Amino acid sequence: MNKTSIKEELKELRQKIQHHNYLYHVLDTPEITDFDYDQMFQRLLELESQHPELITNDSPSQRVGGETLSSFTKVSHRLPMLSLQNTYSADELVQFHERLLNFLKGQGHFTYFCEPKFDGLAVELVYEDGVLIKALTRGDGVTGEDILSNIKTISSIPLTLSWNQKLPLPRILEVRGEVLMFKKDFARLNESIQLEGKNTFANPRNASAGSLRQLDPKVAASRPLRFFAYAPGIIDGLKLHSQMEFFQLIRDLKIPNAFDFPLGKDTSNTTDISDFDLYQVCKTPEDVVRYYRQMESLRSQLPFEIDGVVIKVNEFSIQDILGQVARSPRWATAGKFKPEQAETIIERIDVQVGRTGVFTPVAVMKPVRVGGVQITSATLHNQDEIDRKDIRQGDTVIIHRAGDVIPEVVKVVIEKRPIVSQPYKIPTTCPSCGHEGVQNEGEVAIRCINPLCPSVFKESLKHFVSRKAMNIDKLGSKIIDRFVDEKLIQSYSDIYLLKAGDILKLDRFGDKSVENLLQSIETSKNVDFDRFIYSLGIRFVGEQTAKTLAHSFSNLDQLLKAELDTLVSLEDIGPKVAQSIVSQFQDKIFVKEIKKLLSVGITLRYQEKTKTIHPAFENKSFVITGTLAVSRNEAAVFIESLGGKITSTVSKKTSYVVVGENPGSKAEKATELGLAILSWEDVLALAQ
Ligand code: IVH
Repeated sequence: MNKTSIKEELKELRQKIQHHNYLYHVLDTPEITDFDYDQMFQRLLELESQHPELITNDSPSQRVGGETLSSFTKVSHRLPMLSLQNTYSADELVQFHERLLNFLKGQGHFTYFCEPKFDGLAVELVYEDGVLIKALTRGDGVTGEDILSNIKTISSIPLTLSWNQKLPLPRILEVRGEVLMFKKDFARLNESIQLEGKNTFANPRNASAGSLRQLDPKVAASRPLRFFAYAPGIIDGLKLHSQMEFFQLIRDLKIPNAFDFPLGKDTSNTTDISDFDLYQVCKTPEDVVRYYRQMESLRSQLPFEIDGVVIKVNEFSIQDILGQVARSPRWATAGKFKPEQAETIIERIDVQVGRTGVFTPVAVMKPVRVGGVQITSATLHNQDEIDRKDIRQGDTVIIHRAGDVIPEVVKVVIEKRPIVSQPYKIPTTCPSCGHEGVQNEGEVAIRCINPLCPSVFKESLKHFVSRKAMNIDKLGSKIIDRFVDEKLIQSYSDIYLLKAGDILKLDRFGDKSVENLLQSIETSKNVDFDRFIYSLGIRFVGEQTAKTLAHSFSNLDQLLKAELDTLVSLEDIGPKVAQSIVSQFQDKIFVKEIKKLLSVGITLRYQEKTKTIHPAFENKSFVITGTLAVSRNEAAVFIESLGGKITSTVSKKTSYVVVGENPGSKAEKATELGLAILSWEDVLALAQ
């Protein structure tokens, strides 16, 4: 392939990847499988590692490329970022409208553009000549900090704009919006943070703020952040006339916004909200009030947190006349909702045992409605949290829906505490199997380590069948509990041995439901290697690590044999994760179960590594040491794609030792043995 055609292919790949990011993250309607997406990405990495000089700043491969910063740079906003004045009721919204009429004294006709008020953090994206060059926090409104390296990790934000040909590209385009986390993503993040024995975030907003403050973009990349645009900053080179036109523009430019997000796709919702428009143009104050009330009742069903609505004068010419008072525009107001809090009583504290055996205390409460939802329980996280808030059985508490599926206890109403009351201590034995719990040094969590604990087993099965794992959607949580209790399932592989006759013997199962269930089990048998790894529920092996493992090992047998050194040399896998993987695969019963899964019909789909065997690489073994111009993982993929083998230890049999900056003892050993030493550039030259 010549250079021009490679450039062409790279350009096309980058555009395609951005397009699929948009379909997946913004429209929530992916058109290709994860597998196909990964292949595309892999091809991009491969081409870029063969031609590092063709890597561009806006390549999707560079989203997490940045290094750890020592601090963020302070940058002034070209246009100050104002705040909104608040109103707290329908009456106050009508008063806002009357104030505008008074001020305008009949000049000009206007409408209102009504939007959700996202509960996240304001960020300004700065595009110059179509390229994202800065992303600023609000700061004090005048000066913010450039957090571009973290913002780039949000895959749905275009790094370059694909510009509509009809209009000239504005030299400067500033787009403001909110960075936030979806409720379900937040819940999952907290779960994994808790699994690591660390302190969880109180709400999605704090979680987003904590993630954006990270100096290491890799941490931000691991957080499920989203961005929704809501206002223009400076736009130089294009005249917009209204907020509606602004939205048209960002939708055309595929900049993420909540306008395009399909509501009602979340099947856990009890009411269908798919027909509701999150944004409305209103002509009268009555319409505005109706919108405010509708949004308030919809609030708890949205996938993200909102704390009110924002009512803006739609026409920019009228906005200009209205101007601003102090640090807020006169042409807009926030219609805030009542806080979602309520008082109730903790009847008792139960302890649940999760798939990693962690004991989680849960407050069982007298049912109470908060923000339109009936609440009966709240997680208390761990002993530290209970001690900090001094939560006891029988206490009257204030609870708050923190965007979590499970709500949060804000505080105890001490005046209402019963006279006889004891501080609460989490039991030290497993409530499910009676085994003594274990507390690892430096962790707050207590765990059940009984491999046969029914609770741990049920939760592991739930992870195994979950959407991002084996995806057996008809095998829900309640069914799993029942099948385990009835001893229909006693190991993962038993799922694949279920017989219609056995299930039909249970109450409430009909022919149709059994058929659907068995069908959904059947469909899951053909599974991508990375999903399978993820489904095994190995401690610290999340989706991303599972992907890395799948990319790095050509098949399951190779993975099962992986040595600690090899694992540690992979991108994003540290000693703790590597050790966990090795220990898991040393467990004979576990490995036997994996083999059994394959024998009952699970077929792993391996990613086709596009191999073009190169004579200089074929059957040669390579050891990599030190920091190269590309990541170790990329280097390994590159070498393997040409037919080379990566090994972790230097021996007489090693063909080449690839040495980067700050090499380890492996380089010395290579010199001692008189082996061929290559730089990364030499490897690239060898591949020519
Ligand atoms: S417009 C002049 N629209 O609310 C005001 N802000 O108090 C420009 N926010 O810092 C903001 N959703 O973080 C606007 N649809 C929305 C919003 C929104 C949330 C936040 C934003 C801002 C704060 C203003």
